[in-house]
Amino acid sequence: CSQIPEAWRFDCYPERGVVVTEEMCHARNCCFIQSSQTKTSGRNGVPWCFYTPDYPSYELVSITDTEMGKVGKLLRNKKTYYPKDIDALQVEVLYEEDNRLRVKITDPAEKRYEVPIDVPVVQKKASNPSYTVDFIKEPFGLIVKRTQTGTVLLNTSIAPLFYADQFLQMSTSLPSRFIYGLGEHRSNFLHDVQWNTLTMWARDVPPMELTNLYGVHPFYLSMESDGMAYGFFMLNSNAMDVALQPAPAITWRMIGGILDFYIFLGPDPSSVIAQYLDVVGKPAMPIFWALGYHLCRWGYKSSDKTWNVVKEMRNNGIPQDVQWNDIDYMDHALDFTYDTVNFSGLPELVKDLHRHDQHYVMILDPGISNSQLPGSYWPFDEGMKRGIFINDSNGDVLIGKVWPGLTAFPDFSNPDTHEWWYQNLKRFHEKVPFDGVWIDMNEPSNFFDGSLNGCPDNELENPPYTPGILGGTLKAKTVCASARQKISTHYNIHSLYGLMEAKATERYRPFVISRSTFPSQGKYSGHWLGDNRSQWKDLATSIPGMLTFNILGIPLIGADICGFGGSTTEELCVRWTQLGAFYPFSRNHNSIDEQEPTAFSPAARTAMKEAILLRYSLFPHLYTLFHHAHISGRTVATPLLFQFPNDEKTYGIDKQFLWGKSLLVTPVLEEGRDYVVGYFPEGLWYDFHTVSHKSLDTLLVIHISLTVEFRTIFILYVCHMQGDSLVSSGEEISLQAPKDKINLHLREGSVIPTQRPNTTLWVSSSQPLHLIVSLSEDGLAKGDLFWDDGETLDTYEKDQYAYIYFTVQQNTMTSEVLHNHEEATYITVETVSFYGVKTEPENITVNSQEAAFTYHNNQVI
Ligand code: NOJ
Repeated sequence: CSQIPEAWRFDCYPERGVVVTEEMCHARNCCFIQSSQTKTSGRNGVPWCFYTPDYPSYELVSITDTEMGKVGKLLRNKKTYYPKDIDALQVEVLYEEDNRLRVKITDPAEKRYEVPIDVPVVQKKASNPSYTVDFIKEPFGLIVKRTQTGTVLLNTSIAPLFYADQFLQMSTSLPSRFIYGLGEHRSNFLHDVQWNTLTMWARDVPPMELTNLYGVHPFYLSMESDGMAYGFFMLNSNAMDVALQPAPAITWRMIGGILDFYIFLGPDPSSVIAQYLDVVGKPAMPIFWALGYHLCRWGYKSSDKTWNVVKEMRNNGIPQDVQWNDIDYMDHALDFTYDTVNFSGLPELVKDLHRHDQHYVMILDPGISNSQLPGSYWPFDEGMKRGIFINDSNGDVLIGKVWPGLTAFPDFSNPDTHEWWYQNLKRFHEKVPFDGVWIDMNEPSNFFDGSLNGCPDNELENPPYTPGILGGTLKAKTVCASARQKISTHYNIHSLYGLMEAKATERYRPFVISRSTFPSQGKYSGHWLGDNRSQWKDLATSIPGMLTFNILGIPLIGADICGFGGSTTEELCVRWTQLGAFYPFSRNHNSIDEQEPTAFSPAARTAMKEAILLRYSLFPHLYTLFHHAHISGRTVATPLLFQFPNDEKTYGIDKQFLWGKSLLVTPVLEEGRDYVVGYFPEGLWYDFHTVSHKSLDTLLVIHISLTVEFRTIFILYVCHMQGDSLVSSGEEISLQAPKDKINLHLREGSVIPTQRPNTTLWVSSSQPLHLIVSLSEDGLAKGDLFWDDGETLDTYEKDQYAYIYFTVQQNTMTSEVLHNHEEATYITVETVSFYGVKTEPENITVNSQEAAFTYHNNQVI
């Protein structure tokens, strides 16, 4: 036992709340060594009770080739310490794609629960896989290597495999300590592998570290030692622990379902994500106004007050695309109603928003009140008629408690529920013509543990092993695990509640923001990071949250700007609005207090306005990034390591991020600072503000007007210039950051389409384009633009879009319309700014015509 180094000790006694004694440990036939370093065993310390190297596991008794790969038989001849071992298993290895391997370990004798999301069904084996698969017979182990480098990506032989009815456990070594994903948790972007157990089970709780939160995402991305990356997805929705340890290694511990996992070979981080999203589904293309600025508050208390906020924003010329209402718009917190006294003006307010090219979103919670007078509340009466609510284990409607009091919960696993939900949305829309829906409390959250009547005492409620769920039980602040839903018990599908509700809601309106999420959610909704607080720490943690959801395929993500709980300060709110202007989903939301930009001093208001205007000016670029997320599974908010995988210094960065490939955002995250230190990967970076919309006369500006349908050629002469550029050898650089500025840098070699901003995206998106070009040392740049009418949905699928590609080389800029549509003819390029033009050009021609230009030489002398 003592031969096993601490880092390689795999926990044989992961149960919470017990002090493991030698006796207890030996009863499991495991090694017992009290660690000198930790006061307690397990979860966040070295386990005291751990497996022996020859601990009984399965034996591989046969393996044969199949059309898709291999199939093997596993046998266990010694029972584990959990009940109902499944002694005979089938292991299927599916060579699905050259860069994707799937492994399914199932019970051939009895069908077990499997996650009901669509994944590709592949018929043809990969012809040239970039991986090899080896087997160890006894104890059974699976080893997956990257062919090119021999790096071991999976090795399950390092600890015994468990496959009991309610306890499945598999461990594997990791090629490095660099591991990301595994949501939803509050943590750094780069996970800590020092005995860090991440529990997954959807849960309503203000985000805190080491706790299961609203969503469940059993996917990770990991770096190898040579800049290559791979991904791993465990397709399982049962409650689970994912334990990281410094070996480095990871242990998956699930209490149901099957072992069904994928490995994605990348080899670069972006390709890993794209390959993952090929399996679970790429995110929807958001409707354009979703990318504007949103305002919300719990506690406007009346439609007049809500309306006043909108008017104030307009009066101050601060962009706003969407106004929201929280539960206070409802009549006694009842879904699909509105308070006809305090919110009597709601329909008018919504119409007024529409007249101003703005939009309206309101909240809906899943809990449907069961306590209204019969005949007075259609959602419940009709729901009962249609039998669409979740039942308890006796088959009676399960009653919980949420804002309106006692409630039933719609069972979104039932297609009839989708129909009923649709009818409710439609009926309400006839009264209040809302544009999008905010689905909250859908873990589902319950003020009771389980139900009004508690939960039965059975193996679903009290499984032999309970992961480290907040509250200690599956039913904590949700419905009973033994509750019955159409397709399975709540035990199996609890964490899919938000996904299924989003799917039902998206059918009616294209814009949905959901609190609870699961893989494939991006197809139906965006997400916000939940009930954060108005604290500097929460400002900083929003970046890892945002980056994690981008790699989980939900790029439409943001945190409540200025913080939800507690009271913000002016400085915090300014800094948060600056960072929030770069959240892909940008919403200021609060409980009770006023914290909209107009609530602050003129200086703060102006700084916030500038930040939001900056976002609006970048809309063409942001829209294009979402297009790439939608069709190719790219990230919108991008971790630096995705663009610089060979620079290990980027692996831990989560205080800065990129938009796409080129725009580097370096926000101030601390109080009282007028500077910020940022890391600049090797290369040339230009200060974006040099030629932002406000200062078009700096550097070289060409005043032209042209239609991008034509091939467009500029001739430039490139000599030497430094100016506002920053040449980094891969170093930390201190930047000035006065209160009214967020640092934004443009990477060499890019073309970014921008527009003159306005107070709504509808207005600003009709403006001509201003292209910003940052030349590389050798005078190259490229970029693109996706454009459509902004109203039609699914324009890519319907072939109703334009796609334009820009390249700059040898003093010539070319724009090519790679996909044409009417829309392309409406958009014109008015101006182009080039960073990095080293000497003043003699002349410039645009489509063979001389064009006017100004040259600004801001070279540092
Ligand atoms: C919880 C949500 O997370 C929060 O954003 C909302 O304001 C409250 N519920 C009230 O609806």
